[in-house]
Amino acid sequence: MRKKIIAGNWKMHKTYKEGIALVEDCIKLAEKEKIKEVEIIFCTPFIHLRKISKLTDNIKHINTGAQNCHWEEQGAFTGEISCSMIKSCGAAYVILGHSERRQYFNETHEQLTKKVTAALKHDLTPIFCCGEPLEIREANTHIELIGKQIRESLFHLDKEMITKVVIAYEPVWAIGTGKTATTEQAQEMHAFIRKTLAHHYDFETAESISILYGGSCKPSNAKELFSQPDVDGGLIGGAALQVEDFIALANSF
Ligand code: 13P
Repeated sequence: MRKKIIAGNWKMHKTYKEGIALVEDCIKLAEKEKIKEVEIIFCTPFIHLRKISKLTDNIKHINTGAQNCHWEEQGAFTGEISCSMIKSCGAAYVILGHSERRQYFNETHEQLTKKVTAALKHDLTPIFCCGEPLEIREANTHIELIGKQIRESLFHLDKEMITKVVIAYEPVWAIGTGKTATTEQAQEMHAFIRKTLAHHYDFETAESISILYGGSCKPSNAKELFSQPDVDGGLIGGAALQVEDFIALANSF
């Protein structure tokens, strides 16, 4: 059985105090709602990671993650954070290749390949993002682009390693726009990603990998999206900043 996951990507939101309060309230509500079967992940800014990892330490199905990492172990890279630093804060995940990082920080597939390898080496699970901008969707070349993003940054991994990766499909035109992919669009892309993995690795390997949907995912559309056979949960932006919405999403399977 594939893991069901709700991961909150806070992006550059929440002060230290606000972030801690949000997580404390989410934990309380998740307990009250008896959510146990879904893994909840808080992908916070680096400053929150240590404290929040401590808060979630004893809760098996709640974990933390970073939103980026550097591929080197250490060195003169001002402003960067290594995987061992992230791991030392207690995090279990790291988001890699988010479209905002590709777009605003010129993250390339060469860098992503190295980041994926570094994360796995340090026992951090990459949440690897792929997704097409609007013009690519309109040109009807989105399938090719997603295939390329997956191949270029993940296919250097062997079978054992790829099973440790979580993939997130996030159409760029749906991020923060209120415009969600239809369930058909999401299922089509998720099935394509799984088929691509099955072709390169094998069927069992592809079947074991969780593929999340991201892009204006909210309680009102989550149930339908998560009911699709190849949608294993969500990578959530805006709705992860609200306690009720985020926990309602974890309750949407
Ligand atoms: P929104 O849920 O705000 O559209 O953001 C999605 C996202 O980018 C998660 O990584």
